[in-house]
Order: sequence, then C-alpha cells, then structure tokens
Amino acid sequence: MVSWQAIEKLFVRVMDQPTDRDLDLLWYLWSGPRSPLFGKDRIATLETELRTPDERRQWMAARGPRHPVVVAMTDGQVVGWGSLNAFNARPAYDHVVDLSVYVERAWRGRGVGKALLQHVLGLARQIGYHKMVLATFPYNEAGLALYRRMGFSPVGVYHEQGQLDGRWVDVLIMEQLL
Ligand SMILES: CC(C)(COP(=O)(O)OP(=O)(O)OC[C@H]1O[C@@H](n2cnc3c(N)ncnc32)[C@H](O)[C@@H]1OP(=O)(O)O)[C@@H](O)C(=O)NCCC(=O)NCCS
Repeated sequence: MVSWQAIEKLFVRVMDQPTDRDLDLLWYLWSGPRSPLFGKDRIATLETELRTPDERRQWMAARGPRHPVVVAMTDGQVVGWGSLNAFNARPAYDHVVDLSVYVERAWRGRGVGKALLQHVLGLARQIGYHKMVLATFPYNEAGLALYRRMGFSPVGVYHEQGQLDGRWVDVLIMEQLL
C-alpha cells in the first residue's frame, strides 16, 4: 500500500519486500553518523545498541504481516520510518499494538512524522487492532506534539523505568483507541 502526500514528493510505503538498498538506508538512519543514540537525539529512544545492516535484515525478516515497517521516502531517499510492534506475546493482548517512529534530522518539522503516523494508524485499523500504544520520554517535546496532534492521550508515567548513561529515566505511556 502506498499513500502519496502533496508535499515534497513525499510518499510512505510498507516495506513488504525490502531491497538491499532499503535495508541499508534503514540501517543508516539508525546507526549512521547521525544516529539517534548519540548527541541531542539521545532523548529519542531507550535503545542503546547500534545495528548492522545484517541485524536490520533479520529484524525485518522476523516480522509478520501484523507488524509492518513503513518508510517515508523522497527522491529515492529514506527520510523516516515507523513500525507496528508486538505489545505483549500473550494472546489476550493481540488487539494492542506498539508504535515506533523516527524522522531523519534534516527532514524534521516538515510533516514527515505526521505522514508516517497517518499511514501506520490506517494500517493498524486495516489489520484490525483495537488500540495503539507508545512509550516516550516525557521531555521529548517534538514526539509529544506529534502524538497529541495524531490523537494519542497520556496514560501515565513509569518513573525511573530505564537507565541511560548511568541515570534513571522516566517513560510516558500514551494510547489511542482505534
Ligand atoms: C518526533 C518526530 C518523529 C516528529 O516528526 P516530524 O516529522 O518532525 O513532525 P511533523 O513535522 O510531522 O510535525 C507533527 C506535529 O508536531 C509538531 N512538532 C514537530 N516538531 C516539534 C517540536 N520540535 N516542538 C513542538 N512541536 C513540534 C508540529 O508542529 C506538528 O503539529 P501541527 O500539525 O499542529 O503543526 C521527529 O522529531 C523525530 O524523529 N525525532 C527523533 C526521534 C523521536 O523522538 N522519535 C519518537 C520516539 S518516542
């Protein structure tokens, strides 16, 4: 499924048959020189591991049709990605899905995050999920603005839920009934 956006020749598509180039680009966004694991983007994720292209291949291969990855592209370049992730392996939670989203630094504030969210929300409804949840740092202003704009409400804060660089961090949980 492909959805076109009017701006910047931007389109969002599901990576259902990723090429080697797709996977390299996906890897580059996560582990390249502008990785969100370092510098000011450290507020973006609790992940601590850099990935390799091979690891991204395995990550993609392990996902079924209920857990798609979408990429936002312009002029053949991947500028952001989003994914629907398993929330909990227990079958009672099958109707809940977890969200990840990431936009390349140079492309932020130009509607890419919103386009990705619109696309994954549509996919989640098509797949038949009842609820989407996400976890974010309470001080991730851009993330919070995007999530509120796209219909998510705060559930609450897990205090001292993770450790980054030897310090405890709080995590805000948000949800949206689909
Ligand atoms: C969070 C993120 C995905 C937002 O994507 P984006 O493409 O920059 O956002 P958009 O341009 O689509 O903007 C979406 C909305 O959020 C608002 N917004 C975006 N960046 C903002 C900022 N820094 N401060 C306040 N509001 C902001 C926009 O104004 C827009 O609202 P509007 O439609 O009412 O104008 C992006 O900043 C990012 O990838 N950050 C690093 C990774 C990250 O934090 N991921 C989330 C982990 S939980």
